[in-house]
Amino acid sequence: MVLVDTVTRAGESLVVCRRPEPAAAHPSTTAPGTGHVQAETGTPRLAKFHVPEIVFGPGSLPEAAHAAVRLGARRPMLVTDEGLLAAGWPQQLARHLTEAGLRPVVWSGVTPNPKDHEIAAGHECYRAERCDVLVAVGGGSVIDAAKGVALLAGNGGLITDFEGVDRMVAPIPPMVMVPATSGTGADVSQFCIVTDTERNTKITILGRALVPDVSVVDPNLLTTMPDWLNAATGLDALTHGIEAYVSRAHNPLTDHHALQAISLVGLHLERTMDHPLERQSRVHMAQAALEAGLAFTNAILGAAHAMSHQVGGLLDLPHGVINGILLPHVVRFNAEPDPARFVPIAQALGFRGASDGRWSDALATDAAEWAACEVRRLADELGVPKGLGEIGVTEGDVAQLATMTMADACLSTNPREATRGEIETLFRQAL
Ligand SMILES: NC(=O)c1ccc[n+]([C@@H]2O[C@H](COP(=O)([O-])OP(=O)(O)OC[C@H]3O[C@@H](n4cnc5c(N)ncnc54)[C@H](O)[C@@H]3O)[C@@H](O)[C@H]2O)c1
Ligand SMILES: [Fe+2]
Repeated sequence: MVLVDTVTRAGESLVVCRRPEPAAAHPSTTAPGTGHVQAETGTPRLAKFHVPEIVFGPGSLPEAAHAAVRLGARRPMLVTDEGLLAAGWPQQLARHLTEAGLRPVVWSGVTPNPKDHEIAAGHECYRAERCDVLVAVGGGSVIDAAKGVALLAGNGGLITDFEGVDRMVAPIPPMVMVPATSGTGADVSQFCIVTDTERNTKITILGRALVPDVSVVDPNLLTTMPDWLNAATGLDALTHGIEAYVSRAHNPLTDHHALQAISLVGLHLERTMDHPLERQSRVHMAQAALEAGLAFTNAILGAAHAMSHQVGGLLDLPHGVINGILLPHVVRFNAEPDPARFVPIAQALGFRGASDGRWSDALATDAAEWAACEVRRLADELGVPKGLGEIGVTEGDVAQLATMTMADACLSTNPREATRGEIETLFRQAL
């Protein structure tokens, strides 16, 4: 859903242009009995909410086969990668598809931060095998690769031709997504993020048509994630929640999902690290990733993602780890002129400040700083490096990274206007 003061259209998508809100502190309240922080926001003028059909629950994997049948599949292409094959989930799903009377083709040529040429190879397979529906089981990389194949199946051309908003014109095949990580929200989002190997950057493709038809969220799949991936994707979900909440395109419905996601990550991510096989905390993290996805696909993101995409394109590193390093710096930058919006975020993470519900500017500043420190504390607990320098970024990369950040679609909804110089400073602070 997008709520806007003024409507700007780009094809089928509404490009959000909600005016930044005044600097006065937003009152926030805690809903009685729920512990969920709710924020009060202005009156919406126009509402549009993009969301797939969602099937959620432990053991729901076979539902993906039924969904493919409902969507008219005969020869579904099952997109996955080598890591998932080693965990065994695609084999299970292929069996369910076969038992449902379908003839699946398994394609596993995706690597993390999926590359433009991998999408082209996947499309070639789709055409050669005369497939009709995309089914994906994997993390964000696999899901984005499946979206890319669907896009090319409908429109032809090169995946890099579609960078930006609503560049595709023809319909694309139906998509059923099964996320295997608790982070990206790609299974519900209108984003497809692909590495442009010529420019060494990750391009953002955005469009209503990229929202999958069905998302089947089975938290059991999360139990085979290695710890580093659990940490990285959990931080990605947290970044989605925080950036969506403060986005210029936020609205009451996205706020609800964003705060719920932030709270769930704060409460359960560390527990999944200590008790990886405990079902309930996995269910909570699956829900966190889902709700963060619902929030950001409709509210879009901000500077942390705009910057992260450039580092991920340059160094092929885990997306969530880069976000975890950048996020505290971006929170401080965004909160400096207007900390009020960060009060509910801090509360969702456990900050107990104004017991009388009155938030002075000074207290709101404290809350925002506390939230930034809490994100860093969590990152430390999860073993995330302190700075980008530790993962290979150098001073010599900063200028180029900043230039490319300025062109990233996610920057347009960051709550604070950022100059190229300010982005450079943020990169240096995060080194
Ligand atoms: N489209 C969107 O809306 C969106 C949003 C955020 C991030 N992303 C993109 O998603 C990608 C990151 O995805 P990710 O963090 O989910 O990881 P990933 O898909 O890159 O997977 C990383 C590795 O973990 C393995 N793996 C994944 N799930 C596993 C499981 N359950 N058990 C065992 N191994 C498993 C994979 O095989 C792979 O080797 C980035 O390219 C990022 O840009 C997309
Ligand atoms: Fe992300």
